[in-house]
Amino acid sequence: MSAAPDLGALLSQISLSIAWSGTIIRRFWRGNLGLLGKLSMKVLIVGSQGQLGTELMASQPAQCLVQGLDLEELDISDRQAVETLIEQQRPQLIINAAAYTAVDKAESAAEIAYAVNAEGAANLARMAACINAQLISISTDFVFDGRRSEPYPVDHQAHPLSVYGASKLAGEQQILRLNPQALIVRTAWVY
Ligand SMILES: NC(=O)c1ccc[n+]([C@@H]2O[C@H](COP(=O)([O-])OP(=O)(O)OC[C@H]3O[C@@H](n4cnc5c(N)ncnc54)[C@H](OP(=O)(O)O)[C@@H]3O)[C@@H](O)[C@H]2O)c1
Repeated sequence: MSAAPDLGALLSQISLSIAWSGTIIRRFWRGNLGLLGKLSMKVLIVGSQGQLGTELMASQPAQCLVQGLDLEELDISDRQAVETLIEQQRPQLIINAAAYTAVDKAESAAEIAYAVNAEGAANLARMAACINAQLISISTDFVFDGRRSEPYPVDHQAHPLSVYGASKLAGEQQILRLNPQALIVRTAWVY
């Protein structure tokens, strides 16, 4: 789901229900560089030491100046820290691969799941809008209930069954409220 038609169309083609192989990640980079039309781009990846973040860091194109930060360097749920860092670094593209992904634990840790997946996403969206950077935030098929036997269209009613899914959906909603130009990639079975 996205409010930016060109990039959104590309990303929806490559993201929905597709496992992120190395090829897909390279296409992710190529697509964004091409469509944003930058010869060189300053990129910030948060959650850079997670499973997806590690792949994105390892496959970064030569023409990108990529800064990867993980929890110990930037807690995305800390609004002040996010504002300070992004104001200082002023990236052109922010990729949010940070998340609280412990699906089972989240059932008894809703506060932290929402702090990271909803408020953390909101903090990034607010600051991306503030400095006019493109935000790409990774979301999940867990926003749906999984009862449908066919692929979900992007505008299908969300119905999360878990705290994790609900917190990710809350993050999506916050992002689109604060930054309608942001891109949200809903994917499944990355790893
Ligand atoms: N893996 C999949 O199959 C899959 C499927 C669908 C969607 N996704 C989505 O893809 C994205 C990346 O998933 P992943 O599998 O790479 O997750 P992951 O391996 O758990 O990586 C998430 C990273 O975010 C960090 N993090 C946690 N809280 C943070 C905070 N407050 N501030 C900054 N960083 C924080 C984690 O650090 P710690 O390890 O220190 O906590 C970890 O390095 C997530 O949005 C997830 O919902 C993943």
